[in-house]
This record gives sequence, structure tokens and C-alpha cells, in this order.
Amino acid sequence: MKKDFLALTDWSKAELDQLFELTRKLKDQQKKGEPHELLKGKTLAMIFEKSSTRTRISFEVGMVQLGGHALFLHSDTTQMGRGEPIKDSGRVMGRYCDGIMIRTYSQDVVAELAQWSQVPVINGLTDLYHPCQLMADLFTVIEHKGGYEGLTFAWIGDGNNMANSWINAAAVFGFELQIATPKGYEPNPTVVTRAEQMGARIRYSNDPLTAADGADVLSTDVWASMGQEEEAEKRREAFVGYQLDNRVLAAAHPDAIVLHCLPAHRGEEISDAVIEGKQSVVFDEAENRLHVQKAILATLMG
Ligand code: CP
Ligand code: NVA
Repeated sequence: MKKDFLALTDWSKAELDQLFELTRKLKDQQKKGEPHELLKGKTLAMIFEKSSTRTRISFEVGMVQLGGHALFLHSDTTQMGRGEPIKDSGRVMGRYCDGIMIRTYSQDVVAELAQWSQVPVINGLTDLYHPCQLMADLFTVIEHKGGYEGLTFAWIGDGNNMANSWINAAAVFGFELQIATPKGYEPNPTVVTRAEQMGARIRYSNDPLTAADGADVLSTDVWASMGQEEEAEKRREAFVGYQLDNRVLAAAHPDAIVLHCLPAHRGEEISDAVIEGKQSVVFDEAENRLHVQKAILATLMG
């Protein structure tokens, strides 16, 4: 049966750890210039209903490095944008391509596409989740900290798709997570409840210093995600005090590292000093999108 990559909780810890092992191998091969054409002659369709720099480039370059090909499909220039049903688009694309990556609004659209398409579907970001980013983030932590076991992670900011994905990661991998969001901007309650049922060790507060306390890894993300542009001003007011700045960083472990999925709004969710500072690993994190996604593609489409 085909497998999809829609949410971290669809996969076991053992399977995700295997993805990290393959990522390590593929990254080493790429750095040494060794061929690793695991997807020779295969094609990935990439559907975008939202903007992207990293996701688009890393998937496309990743397919080329694996010996395959990627098609960039903006929904506006396909029949999907004119209302062709997902269940038809999914079946048609599955006749031409060996996999589909989709970035869209609703997680239900991604699930419907996966249900109807014969080929693996990868979630390239929805309003609910960003699982490929989380895998790149954790691989970056493994590289810098030697592993994720026993570490404390902090999320400071909006209870958005990245926060929900961190909650899923805490549930699957079992690490401690400390979350601070303003009132009214908490993570998705269904995601929170399921993580509790899975035994996740997560503490929630409305205080960035409480979340950062003793943390080994600090993360944040924009206060207004794609699709929330009209709320940006209101959110800037609601998120006062939530900037990941030197004051918040000082509450963390002295060797803590800082993650941000990018794009970042310096002076809003993160200060320029922190994102450019020596504890920031955001560009390693961005690079690792490529290596982790190659492992996901090779595992699903190989
Ligand atoms: N982090 C991330 O997904 O970036 P893009 O929106 O540029 O793809
Ligand atoms: N939360 C952000 C992440 C961008 C990569 C958004 O959804 O816009």
C-alpha cells in the first residue's frame, strides 16, 4: 500500500528515526559529490496554493539530485484553480507522476488528495501543519546537539501550523516541550488533546520566559501566517512581549540553539541580534529542508 506524509503522527518514531538516518547518508553523499540517483526517471508534481521560497526550491532541487524531475504547478494556472474536484485532479496526476507535494490552506484538501491519488502525497504546509519543516528542524537539532533525547524544546509565539507540528513531534518523539502563546492564539485544541492522549510532555503558558526557562532549543515563527495578512496589525498588538530576543534567550540553557523556519520578520517575532547571533542555526535549518525531503521522497517514491 502506498504511504503518504501528511502529519508527523501518521508515522512511528522508528520510521521517522529511519528518515533521519537516510537524511544523514544522503547529505554526506551530496557533500562528497557522490551520485545518489534513487529516483531516476521519476516525477514529482508540486502544487502550490500559497507562496514559497524554501519548499519549492528544496523539493525541486532535491528531485534533480535524486535523478528525477519536479513540476511546479500553481493552482491558479491549473484546472484546480477553476474548481476541478480534488478527487479528479488527484487521480489524473497519479497517472502521470510518481508523487505529489502540495502546499495549501486546508489539511482536509491534502487528506482528500491522498485518498484519491494512487501515488504518495506529501504535505508541503497547510494552515494546520508543516511536517517537512519539523523534520528539518529536528535533523538540525540532531546535528548540533547529537540527538533530541533528553532535550527541552521551547515554542514562543503563535499557536500556528509550526506550533501544532511541534506538539505532534513532542507526542511522537517523547521530548519535553514548553509553549508560550498569547491568550486567544493557542495551538489547535484537537491537536493538543490527541498529543495528551499520546502521553506528550507539554507545558502551556502565556509567558515567554516560562517557556524559555532551561530550554535547549528555542523556536518561533511569524505572528501572521500566510492567509492571515489582514490580521497582521491586530496580531502585532496581541503579541507584544513575545519577541524571541536576548532577554528571552537569557532564560534558556547557555548553549541553547535558536530555530526559525523562515521567512522571518526581524523586530517582530525575533530580534535581529538573536537571528544573526551565534546561537542561531536558521540557515543550517533551511539547508536541511533539502536533505530531509530527499529522504522523504526516496522513502515514499523509491
Ligand atoms: N519555511 C518554509 O516553508 O519556507 P517557504 O515558505 O519559503 O517555503
Ligand atoms: N506559519 C508560516 C510558516 C511559513 C513557512 C505560514 O504558514 O505562513
